[in-house]
Parts: sequence; structure tokens; C-alpha cells
Amino acid sequence: MKIGIAADHGGYALKEIILPFLKEHGHTVTDFGAYSLNNQDDYPDYIVPLARAVASQEVERGIAVCGSGVGAAIVANKIAGVRAALINDHFSAHQGVEDDDMNLLCLGGRVTGNMAAKDLIVAYLNATFTGAERHLRRLQKVQQLEQNH
Ligand code: RB5
Repeated sequence: MKIGIAADHGGYALKEIILPFLKEHGHTVTDFGAYSLNNQDDYPDYIVPLARAVASQEVERGIAVCGSGVGAAIVANKIAGVRAALINDHFSAHQGVEDDDMNLLCLGGRVTGNMAAKDLIVAYLNATFTGAERHLRRLQKVQQLEQNH
């Protein structure tokens, strides 16, 4: 799968764990930065380019990491076509894709441990949108909001 990742300084250490993990699992990974640890950097500078790549389908799925995952989720959802969520549990990692077609997983680098993050990522990437009528209906309502904005 083509996957994009991005992190600010709060997520940088976890991104450095996730990147080789994804490659070991056979994924093609585009790293949108940060490319070094800079405690003064700002998460929108990395998460927005990733979110745009998800929206344009340059990558199939995104993974964004900041300190809590909150800022990453907030800014990613400003980009039309992105369905981002901060995920801290296994169930939501796959159900968010199955029901809500989540295409950008947000993690908290200061919250979620390395092994838990890997588990969430595997659950997220193995999941597919069911396409059930009720879920499509709900997604259309979300898309209408984007279009009316
Ligand atoms: C950076 O210190 C921190 O605020 C940021 O990584 C993130 O947690 C924001 O949601």
C-alpha cells in the first residue's frame, strides 16, 4: 500500500519507529517530515502536505503523529476529502475504516507506546471500508458539508 506519514517534534520519535516498520511490512512510504527533531516546529507544516496527498490519492492512507495526536487530527480534517481521527484503541483503528472510511490515522507520540502504535497501525491498514448503504449515506452527508463550506 502507498502510505504517507508526517510528524512534528512531538511525534518525531514515534515516526522514526513507524517508518521502518511500514517498510518491513512491504508498504511504499512517503515521509512528509519532519526530517529532523526541531522542538520549535509546527505540526501544520507537516500534517497539511500529508493530508493534501491523502485527499489527492497520491497516497492511499495517511499516518500523522504529533504529541497528543489532537492537533494533527484537527488540522488534517480541514482538508476536504480527509477523514482523520485520533486513535487510541484497537477497535476504533479498524472500525473507523470499516464504517467511516477513515483515511488518516492520528497518533499521539507522547501518549501511545511503540508496540501499541504498531498494533493500531496494523489494524488500520488491514481494514477496508464496508461500503454498506447506511455508511455511504452518512459519508454523503459529511461530503455535503465539505461542498457547502
Ligand atoms: C507540541 O508541543 C504539541 O503541542 C503538538 O505536538 C501536539 O500535541 C498538538 O496537538
